Amino acid sequence: MNQNYKAEPYRIKMVEPIREIPKTKRIKLLKNAGYNPFALKSEDVYIDLLTDSGTGAMSQAQWGALMQGDEAYAGSRSFYRLESVVKHITNYQYFIPAHQGRGAEQVVLPQFVHKKGMSFISNMHFDTTRAHVELAGARAIDCVIDECFDTAKHHPFKGNFNLEKLKRIIEDKGSDNIAGIILTITNNSAGGQPVSMENLEATAKIARSYGIPVIIDGARFSENAYFVKMREEGYQDHSILEIAQEVFAMADVFLMSAKKDGLVNMGGIIAIKDNEQLFKKVQGAIVPMEGFPTYGGMSGRDMEALAVGLQEGLEEDYLRHRIDQVRYLGDQLREAGVPIQYPTGGHAVFVDAKAIAPHIPYDQFPAQSVVNALYIESGVRAVEIGSLLLGRDPDTNENIDTPLQFMRLTIPRRTYTYNHLKVVADGVIKVFNDRKKLKGLTFTYEPQILRHFTAKMQPIK
Ligand code: F0G
Repeated sequence: MNQNYKAEPYRIKMVEPIREIPKTKRIKLLKNAGYNPFALKSEDVYIDLLTDSGTGAMSQAQWGALMQGDEAYAGSRSFYRLESVVKHITNYQYFIPAHQGRGAEQVVLPQFVHKKGMSFISNMHFDTTRAHVELAGARAIDCVIDECFDTAKHHPFKGNFNLEKLKRIIEDKGSDNIAGIILTITNNSAGGQPVSMENLEATAKIARSYGIPVIIDGARFSENAYFVKMREEGYQDHSILEIAQEVFAMADVFLMSAKKDGLVNMGGIIAIKDNEQLFKKVQGAIVPMEGFPTYGGMSGRDMEALAVGLQEGLEEDYLRHRIDQVRYLGDQLREAGVPIQYPTGGHAVFVDAKAIAPHIPYDQFPAQSVVNALYIESGVRAVEIGSLLLGRDPDTNENIDTPLQFMRLTIPRRTYTYNHLKVVADGVIKVFNDRKKLKGLTFTYEPQILRHFTAKMQPIK
């Protein structure tokens, strides 16, 4: 293998067996799952690239820390340990744990919605963030640069905000109708694409000039910082932590699904820079929704593991290997002509299903069709990030069209090897070569909110 990809900066101390079941069985299981791989049993999956969320491997230091969990209901020692790490990394005054990212979203986002007709603006809302914006009675507006929609075009920071559009939206709606600007780093839905420091600064400056709060959705803030260090001029001599801290300094609130760059299986973070009133409101909301403010849905041992994981997630050696693994898979696919969001991002390779299956319209979910074909071909579970996930427009109830119809091959942290990724690449390439046979899908059951998790479907003959 090419030396350009950094080998694993760890050795393996414990293994979890996985197995590949026969293709004939996979065909039946997928049918029983309503052509929705979310309904598959994990033991029927060979290589699971559904998500990088909570699926990573913990280090020996994290497993060691677990034993030190203080499970007190109130005032747990583990809370204070985690609080000191979060405060050190963010330089924020207030910290409250949550059970995971969406737990943080459900208590924090409604605090910014104080009247009818308000909107949040993000480079791109993740689906749970969008759902909580809408549940709070607001609207979610995406405002990413156009380059993001041209998957073949190289741009080092495809997650960037479109600054002109941002100003236009604020002017059109009136700044007092904007509940907040959400910096999603990295931009998950567009390919794990980073946002540059220059763009983040410009966005925050615009927000400040209108008095709009800035919220970081930082599930993958360390990966974003790594890209800044690699790709943006002036940051080569900065540590990952320093870069992350520069980003935190621009915002008012930090929400994090700790299941990603926190390197834990469960957990979430709410950190507030200095707004005591907001902190008190969130504290009031967290008790009935998530738990007492010193655990917020997390067990003491999990807070210990997160305190360690957050720091390991900022190590450059680890990040280099991680980002190289993703790039390796992307390179394998590109060499075979498979269209992907290019350059590859932080946590996943996003395969452009619209380009692969132009014969399937958006409301028959081309990317879901590719995902299903890959499971049948090689037992690899990927996930659709496209019109199935986007759902319906809350005003018109129509399926939402998007030029971005992706199959996301999401790489769990410290879990699979380059050889696993080679198996994945071979499977995708076979599906790609057989792409004319792919068929669209129609619902047999469609839930109203976050439908992609539990929908049932069937192929259109
Ligand atoms: N924000 C972003 C950018 C995310 O990617 C996620 C989760 C969340 C918020 C919600 O966090 O899952 O802990 O409640 N993304 C996962 C994924 C589910 O597969 O991309 P959560």
